[in-house]
Amino acid sequence: MAMTDLVPNTGKPITLVIFGASGDLTRRKLVPALASLHSKGRLPSNLQILGVARSDLDDQGFRAILEEFLGGEGMTRPTPAQWTELSSHIHYTHGDVTSSQDLAQVKSRLAEIEGEAADCNRLYYLSLAPSLYRHAINGLGEADMVDDTSGWRRLVVEKPFGTDLESAQELNDIAHSVFREDQVFRIDHYLGKETVQNLLVFRFANAIFEPIWNRNYIDHVQITVAETLRIDERGDYYDQTGVLRDMFQNHLLQLLTLVAMEPPHAFEAEALRNEKVKVLNAIRRVHPQEVAHHAIPGQYRTYRDEFGVSPDSDTSTYAALRLYVDNWRWQGVPFYLRSGKALRSKSTEIIIQFRNPPHMLFPLAEDEDIPANTLAIFVQPDEGFHLEFQTKTPEAGLQMRKAELEFHYHEAFSGQAIPDAYERLLLDALNGDASLFTRADEIEQAWSIIDPIIAGFNRPDAPRPYYYSEGSWGPVEADRFLATDGRAWLQAGRSR
Ligand SMILES: NC(=O)c1ccc[n+]([C@@H]2O[C@H](COP(=O)([O-])OP(=O)(O)OC[C@H]3O[C@@H](n4cnc5c(N)ncnc54)[C@H](OP(=O)(O)O)[C@@H]3O)[C@@H](O)[C@H]2O)c1
Repeated sequence: MAMTDLVPNTGKPITLVIFGASGDLTRRKLVPALASLHSKGRLPSNLQILGVARSDLDDQGFRAILEEFLGGEGMTRPTPAQWTELSSHIHYTHGDVTSSQDLAQVKSRLAEIEGEAADCNRLYYLSLAPSLYRHAINGLGEADMVDDTSGWRRLVVEKPFGTDLESAQELNDIAHSVFREDQVFRIDHYLGKETVQNLLVFRFANAIFEPIWNRNYIDHVQITVAETLRIDERGDYYDQTGVLRDMFQNHLLQLLTLVAMEPPHAFEAEALRNEKVKVLNAIRRVHPQEVAHHAIPGQYRTYRDEFGVSPDSDTSTYAALRLYVDNWRWQGVPFYLRSGKALRSKSTEIIIQFRNPPHMLFPLAEDEDIPANTLAIFVQPDEGFHLEFQTKTPEAGLQMRKAELEFHYHEAFSGQAIPDAYERLLLDALNGDASLFTRADEIEQAWSIIDPIIAGFNRPDAPRPYYYSEGSWGPVEADRFLATDGRAWLQAGRSR
């Protein structure tokens, strides 16, 4: 069952083996999240952590490089005593995942830590470059480290999972040749965010929204994931990837599935994921030759000057898409998705725009338009909800004014920090709860939606990415794109 906070201490020790332990993700996210959980008393006391990478480090050296990022945003900083306690459970061993000899040494080190005869559970976390996933998975199989007769064995794989449908299928095949699907936990850290989970509570624990959550009452849905950051030093990677692979295939489609899914029969992994896959299945595929009618590519003006980027690169750093979910609930309701780098502000929000009342009985001036109700769901920052509705202006006849009902986490929970997504995801993986992880078929469906759009962007007759200025909201063509549908991008309920 998802959203439990404590890992049951079953008596069996657990070892978390992090491959890629000297890297950015381990230092900035994984270990600070573990330390935060430990300081809140949420980690089992019999957890050991073994870091593996090629760098020449010993246990002390490894613990020392981990200290720098403890207590990052959304994480509780452990006290010195708590860190001393936790770090006595943290170990390091040299290991190259492409070497069977090295993996044999990792296995011996595990035997030392766990004790030769001990029954133990193990979580293998691949915090490696994606090109190394296959080596690590095959290596674990060949080194006979997946046998789960003495305790469970699980695998966490970071994003990106594949670069297209074919490579994702290939990686799934490799994973399934060594692990069963129920042992594989594919991360999309967006799903670990509190507001994303709260979206499910909001939809399915309240009776008032569900009756209107459909094509009869909803005009359209907008999902925005805006970043202010440029590509930094990731030019080589980003120029091969682009925004559709980096953001749409995973985060934006995941958000769309949570908005559009049918109520699952229970809050458990398979039921939830079955409903999400049904939504992905129902998304109308865009043919590459039609992409120009359904998508707008963009590139920030100085992108081609970035280090590692080809000077004539056509990689999109921004995209806006119109997708349709072909089922009874959503037929004809457009879902507008947009995401980009170097935009005006960092925000992730979902806006549900309801239809106008079928008949306006209040007198309006000739050019007056009453904005329809909107529900804005803020995923980050300032997590919360806004519901906009019309009210009568006092002593002004029947003049109407927009009002908002607001809920914000930081106010409702008296400043309590919203935990970082990795805390939730690490706990769930330790608990064996896969609800917030992506299943093999879900990943493949998502690629099958995005691949034809990427193919369309790459066609010689496709529009080149439209330029936009850093600090703007993307290319003006994205505004025109919505305007042709008689709509405009909304932000926190305001037309921009
Ligand atoms: N950083 C983030 O915020 C973030 C966010 C989301 C997803 N991710 C994903 O997480 C994964 C790791 O990202 P990262 O940013 O931590 O990358 P990174 O900083 O480049 O770290 C990669 C790690 O892999 C190790 N490594 C390289 N080759 C190896 C080999 N043959 N055998 C064993 N270890 C090897 C490196 O250490 P040595 O050189 O010492 O071996 C290093 O510890 C990637 O898949 C990335 O897409 C990262």
